[in-house]
Amino acid sequence: MDKTKLSQFKTQFATDVFHGLTTFPKKISSKYFYDEKGDDLFQQIMDLPEYYLTGKEFDILKENKADIGEAFTSKEGFDLIELGAGDGKKTKVLLRHFTEAGYDFKYLPVDISGNVLEQLTQSLETEISGLRVDPQQGTYAEVLDRLSAYKKRKKVILFLGSNIGNLLQEQAIGFLRKISAAMQAEDLLFIGIDQKKHPKKVLGAYNDPTGVTAAFNKNLLTRINRELDANFDPETFLHWPVYNPESGVAKSYLVSKKEQTVQINSLNLEVVFGKWETIHTEVSQKYDDHSVGWLAQEAGLTIVESFSDSENYFKDYIFKK
Ligand code: AVI
Repeated sequence: MDKTKLSQFKTQFATDVFHGLTTFPKKISSKYFYDEKGDDLFQQIMDLPEYYLTGKEFDILKENKADIGEAFTSKEGFDLIELGAGDGKKTKVLLRHFTEAGYDFKYLPVDISGNVLEQLTQSLETEISGLRVDPQQGTYAEVLDRLSAYKKRKKVILFLGSNIGNLLQEQAIGFLRKISAAMQAEDLLFIGIDQKKHPKKVLGAYNDPTGVTAAFNKNLLTRINRELDANFDPETFLHWPVYNPESGVAKSYLVSKKEQTVQINSLNLEVVFGKWETIHTEVSQKYDDHSVGWLAQEAGLTIVESFSDSENYFKDYIFKK
């Protein structure tokens, strides 16, 4: 590609959109779903009856908080680091229990958004008195680098919500290796991973009849319009999720309903879509114990314990080095 063009791009988003829409098949990473509107739509998704992941993980934490606390605590106490803390709705179940049980611990929520961290810290102050919170703003990689220096006592890293599923398996291994590199022998990783199940159930979670997930996917086009001065008409694209029960991959696409040309002025780019041409926007990998074991092994980790809901839809695993 033309290097002079690449150097004009001001942001990673601009660079990635350029590359993603000039390659075949077209693709854009789901990490760009999460602008202000995307955050709001994701909150709505978590409340959808079809999106079982959040409710199931909430149930697991509620049912097993005592056992989880026993696994986390140590003589010197522990530091609880949560990657991608969000609104902390699920984590509060644990934080409340640990505080009531009198555990000596500090909570370090990590998020890229200072705004999210501020709101979370405020709500924790009013809801759980006595909780010690030390918010960490930055990307996961930056914060993990910073926190590998936390060696005085046990560290427990939380990574909930099956966020690991949004990484391709090779990326997931790379990410877990980074976490592992930041861990000492007694440290733990507590990770939520959505499980393979009836394909209809999985697909339904990404295809709600109210169209919230479709709006979430199409919001990517609205974001490109706003941030890169483009003229996508989101209504000319279909939200199309698919699930492959063999690989356990759920993928989402935007499918052009007609032949069309879109201008992206900031990129000085015209993108031509054939009728029914796709943009691949998201992977949501589903796992089972076997593939989680493989993932852990590839990253130099071992599974210590796991907790599941009554239907085995979702699992939280404890990994150590
Ligand atoms: C954040 N992540 C785990 C969600 C998922 O299930 O892959 C994002 C999402 N995409 C569509 N609905 C929810």
